[in-house]
Amino acid sequence: TANGLAQQPPMGWNSWNKFACKVDETTIRAAADAIATNGMKGAGYNYVVIDDCWHGARDANGFITADKTRFPSGMKALSDYIHAKGLKFGIYSDAGTKTCGGRPGSQGHEYQDALQYARWGVDYLKYDWCSTGVRNAEEAYALMSDALRASGRDILFSMCEWGNSRPWLWASKIGNMWRTTGDITDKWTGRYGYSWGVASIADMNEPLWPYAGPGHWNDPDMLEVGNGGMTDTEYRSHFSLWAIMAAPLIAGNDIVGMTNATRAILLNTDVIAVDQDRLGIQGHRVWKDGDREIWSKPLSDGGRALLLFNRGDTPAAIAADWTMLGLPRQVRMEVRDLWAHKSLGKRSGRFEASVAPHGVVMVRLKQ
Ligand code: GLA
Repeated sequence: TANGLAQQPPMGWNSWNKFACKVDETTIRAAADAIATNGMKGAGYNYVVIDDCWHGARDANGFITADKTRFPSGMKALSDYIHAKGLKFGIYSDAGTKTCGGRPGSQGHEYQDALQYARWGVDYLKYDWCSTGVRNAEEAYALMSDALRASGRDILFSMCEWGNSRPWLWASKIGNMWRTTGDITDKWTGRYGYSWGVASIADMNEPLWPYAGPGHWNDPDMLEVGNGGMTDTEYRSHFSLWAIMAAPLIAGNDIVGMTNATRAILLNTDVIAVDQDRLGIQGHRVWKDGDREIWSKPLSDGGRALLLFNRGDTPAAIAADWTMLGLPRQVRMEVRDLWAHKSLGKRSGRFEASVAPHGVVMVRLKQ
């Protein structure tokens, strides 16, 4: 993307998955405080993003304002607060007349909204697709992309069009990430109206791996880790799948009150390093037999991230041959277990492990 941002998949926190429309400045400040002090900032989470429902009405000149009851100090003050913590500030709008939560959309106000965001010190815009009628997605997103550039501020552009018009084919020059699916929900698998469980989202995002790269990423939606609908094993699988797919890592839980188990998942720096690897190749599935899968991601040190994934309800033995990973058959590779946090020594030819139901074994192979 011309803005040069997001050379690695963006990381941060967004209010939607936990708080939905119940956002206010107290909640956002508390999230910023938590990120700055609980280790997340050091691990790379730097964007604090307010999703839908922050908006008030447009003023007499058509400029968007913040909801005065929920954000009495105003957006500039909140932005300053977040920046003072060494974090970046993200906001949400929509390409249609109304946001998905029924607040004013940006249609017909694109340049004015981009200007207002720049004045507020916004660093990230998530741009949704509700109430867009017959609008052409590529045109609508290109228009806001131009408006953001014209604002003079570096603003990461996150396109939330749900994959309907195949943004991976046209969006890499327009923005930094594009949603590839409908909304994620805090469940293991399946479809629920316009939402899907994590294992189903992963299936939809996986085949799009050739379209991702530095500056432009497939976005399988924000993390549900810690929101309570899944087991910690399932959350580890969720986080591992997102990391091996070089997905944006946008936490979506209550990071103020999270459990130690949730913190240990979100702060697994070995797994984060796989996601953030500077080669920027999205990993993908290289083998499948029923519920047993092998995913692999080439890394900048010449090694591989390797994910043994068991979708089934009983433990499974899964064996990965080096040839599945594009490595010479007999080469000896150092194996590090990224969830056990320990070296497993050197292996030649293959790596095999027993994988818990709905679980993963994730290792890093290095020559
Ligand atoms: C859509 C998006 C979600 C969220 C909501 C807000 O459903 O896909 O991520 O932003 O709108 O209303």
